[in-house]
Amino acid sequence: MMNPFKFGTIVESSFFTDRRIELQQIKSVLNSENHLILISPRRFGKTSLVVKALQESERKHIMINLQSVVSVEDFASRLLKEVFKIYKFEKLKYMIKNFRVVPTLSINPMTDGVDVAIQPMVDSRVMIEDVFSLLQMLATENDRLIVVFDEFQEIKAIDKNLDRVLRSIIQLHKNINYLFLGSQESMMREIFEKKKSPFFHFGQLLNLDKIPYEDFKLYLYDRLSFMDDADRVCDEILDFTKCHPYYTQQLASQVWEKGKNGEMENIVEEAINRLLEFHDLNFERIWLNFNNTDKRILIWLANNNKPYTLLGIAQSTISSSLKRMLKDGYVIKTTEYEVEDPFFRNWILSR
Ligand SMILES: Nc1ncnc2c1ncn2[C@@H]1O[C@H](COP(=O)(O)OP(=O)(O)OP(=O)(O)O)[C@@H](O)[C@H]1O
Ligand SMILES: [Mg+2]
Repeated sequence: MMNPFKFGTIVESSFFTDRRIELQQIKSVLNSENHLILISPRRFGKTSLVVKALQESERKHIMINLQSVVSVEDFASRLLKEVFKIYKFEKLKYMIKNFRVVPTLSINPMTDGVDVAIQPMVDSRVMIEDVFSLLQMLATENDRLIVVFDEFQEIKAIDKNLDRVLRSIIQLHKNINYLFLGSQESMMREIFEKKKSPFFHFGQLLNLDKIPYEDFKLYLYDRLSFMDDADRVCDEILDFTKCHPYYTQQLASQVWEKGKNGEMENIVEEAINRLLEFHDLNFERIWLNFNNTDKRILIWLANNNKPYTLLGIAQSTISSSLKRMLKDGYVIKTTEYEVEDPFFRNWILSR
């Protein structure tokens, strides 16, 4: 029997749970001329959620992960490559002839897809404009397009003016919904919430939360019910992970493994210990890189305290430390500030 838990990559079908409200919210944006900005800490399930929404919409869509884009030309060619997957080659061939700089197209015999090569150019803006106006020409009222940019916070790293260029082009688009996904929370907020930013209030903002306790418990219970005390086991898992989607699946997977082997004694605790063993060296290395203020705040948070109640450190120092650790993903803020990784939290407490 296959392990019924999955962590790390996109989850679909039986591995995907809940998110009914969020799916509804995305659906209503897709049924409008508006755009969506989806923000959460890492590994909360943004990509999985959007992939699910795309499948349910049954509309043509393109998804680009900006994390793997290295230049503006690369961005344009990846977009074109995706366009070739969903529209007919013959149709596109004629449209691309009108590009100011014509890209080189070739059929990839391995995938049967079209490869697109674009020479580096002095003014890459031309290429971006041409590709996006192609999208605009292809999308029609009866065949509306969805374009998703995953890890959108990377936009500035590709080219410092790309956000401006992009916004100036796509604000004119009709029949296309743009979805912007991002994790480094403060950076995404810089892009969409700062008055000076070109993308200021560009679409509807959706903050993705953890998965609600009761929903997640049902999901776990369904898969762990072969154990006598499944109810207690599920509670212990969720108490430890505080419903973090990724870590919950990771721990549950380990618990399932042990359960199948009949190792029932202190099963959750033993599963946690097993996973901690994997991470021990890594946590040690991470810990040594924090300064003393960071360390004190992490210990304080690990003990379920609110950061600003920590005495003996100036509030402004706490604030800048938190900001840094949020940006690096060691701390997250949901209803309260917390150590992102429950295993790291446990490691801190035990040391
Ligand atoms: N709806 C869900 N049901 C069950 N598990 C989920 C769900 N969403 C996410 N997860 C868990 O979280 C993991 C990460 O999901 P996903 O990659 O979609 O998140 P993400 O927010 O896009 O992450 P990243 O910030 O790394 O891009 C999944 O592998 C899975 O273990
Ligand atoms: Mg993702």
